[in-house]
Amino acid sequence: KNIAIIMGGYSSEYKISLKSGNVVHTYINKERFNTYPIHIFKDKWVYVDESEKEHPVNKNDFTVNLGNETLSFDCVFNAIHGTPGEDGLMQAYFELLSMPQTSCDYYQSALTFNKRDLLSVLKPYGINAAASYYLNLGDKIDEEAIIEKVGLPCFVKANKAGSSFGISKVHEKESLKSAIENAYKEDDEIIIESFLDGTEVSVGVITYKGKTKVLPITEIVTENDFFDYEAKYEGKSQEITPARISKIQQEKVEELAKRAYEVLKMKGYSRSEFIFIGDEPYMLEMNTTPGLTTESILPQQAEKAGITLEELFTSAVDEALS
Ligand code: DAL
Ligand code: MG
Repeated sequence: KNIAIIMGGYSSEYKISLKSGNVVHTYINKERFNTYPIHIFKDKWVYVDESEKEHPVNKNDFTVNLGNETLSFDCVFNAIHGTPGEDGLMQAYFELLSMPQTSCDYYQSALTFNKRDLLSVLKPYGINAAASYYLNLGDKIDEEAIIEKVGLPCFVKANKAGSSFGISKVHEKESLKSAIENAYKEDDEIIIESFLDGTEVSVGVITYKGKTKVLPITEIVTENDFFDYEAKYEGKSQEITPARISKIQQEKVEELAKRAYEVLKMKGYSRSEFIFIGDEPYMLEMNTTPGLTTESILPQQAEKAGITLEELFTSAVDEALS
């Protein structure tokens, strides 16, 4: 089978995506699959061959003309973080082409990538979130109203982004405006949330060998003011798996992460972030194409569950093809 590993993307997360994609390319089962790295950038969609030569992708049918032959694919492995690979755009395109793909379909991807919409859809299912305030580009910024709703400190976030791009923790009213401007660099929608002062955990839920499986939970301990880009990718944090939480906390958060996955009819990988206030988990967000580098959280969790990278990636393709 020919597998196209799509990586890159149009957002600030493209560098991480290239790393994730290359890890998938390295570890996936080579006896069963031929894998082709496809770089998806705004100005070019190209297959990058072994000698780094770029071959344009035909967007009408997602094939590649190699001169003497036309390369076509049986499945797409999605390693794009952020738009257009995590927000449903690529998913909709592949659905139209009837091309099997790993990770969620377009609706689940679009919904989960929108923090506000995800959290409001999950609320009636007993999944709680921080108090929040929402802004659209051009809306009046009423600092008094924002602070009255969410208090201080608070988090200003791009509503549709990843890897903490556009996120600031705001401690005083005077910094609110610049934090909002910074978040608008990543998205035209902003969500401002109350600071939840508790243990942060990351819960991986995947479909593995046909079943929904909750992976060992990771506790995030950051040296920075919050789990920002530097903490995530430049070693300024400790990721402890399994998390040092009580049995009650563990059972609750596992159940909620699994509930979200099932309520939304997700497939493939998901990684949900929660903060505990006492024993109660509050959801921050869900990721449908979480980082897949060897240092990323989901691969670490899989390893703790006895699942190798090869098994993790191969099972995602098998699920997509089933
Ligand atoms: N958005 C990053 C890649 C993650 O969730 O791991
Ligand atoms: Mg994220």
